[in-house]
Amino acid sequence: MHKKRYKILLSEAEIRDRVQELAQDINADYSGEELLVVGILKGAFIFMSDLVRELTIPISVDFMDMSSYGASTRSSGEVRILKDLETPIEGKNVIVVEDIVDTGLTLSYIAELLHTRNPKSLRICTLLDKPSRRKIDITSDYCGFTIPDYFVVGYGLDYNEKHRNYRDICILEPTEHED
Ligand code: PRP
Repeated sequence: MHKKRYKILLSEAEIRDRVQELAQDINADYSGEELLVVGILKGAFIFMSDLVRELTIPISVDFMDMSSYGASTRSSGEVRILKDLETPIEGKNVIVVEDIVDTGLTLSYIAELLHTRNPKSLRICTLLDKPSRRKIDITSDYCGFTIPDYFVVGYGLDYNEKHRNYRDICILEPTEHED
């Protein structure tokens, strides 16, 4: 019987330090401005809650929820909106916050869509980036960690909706050995 094993890739302390650095960059870049922070559900919810508490500029928050039509069709670029923003973004500084960029399909879809709504500025902040998996050329303006192609869980990221509450980001490894 297969059992899953977890190895820490990024510890709670490493994540906390990096989130503080990202927030310092954002505070400096938007000094004197207001910012709308847009979290992409569900994966970004923990990263976003930690990030916004480190921001000292005036912010408001909103959320979007996106879905692909399933793993097999994600590569075809079929992304749909499950929940749209409640806030009009025309003329506003917007940062989209993601937990991870993988193929880039989700973020490129979101970025294209939000650009049509004429924000004053639009930037992307992701905690994790897996450039080796990229199918669409998209770069984040703020990136926490670039990681290899590991399946990772914790700090908002899930495996079958589980493990989002882990404080560390862990590599999920299948193993045939019982612990
Ligand atoms: C994950 C992640 C990003 C997307 C990245 O979301 O949160 O939104 O996949 O993948 P991509 O770059 O290949 O598009 P997921 O669909 O797993 O939903 P979740 O955030 O609810 O876990």
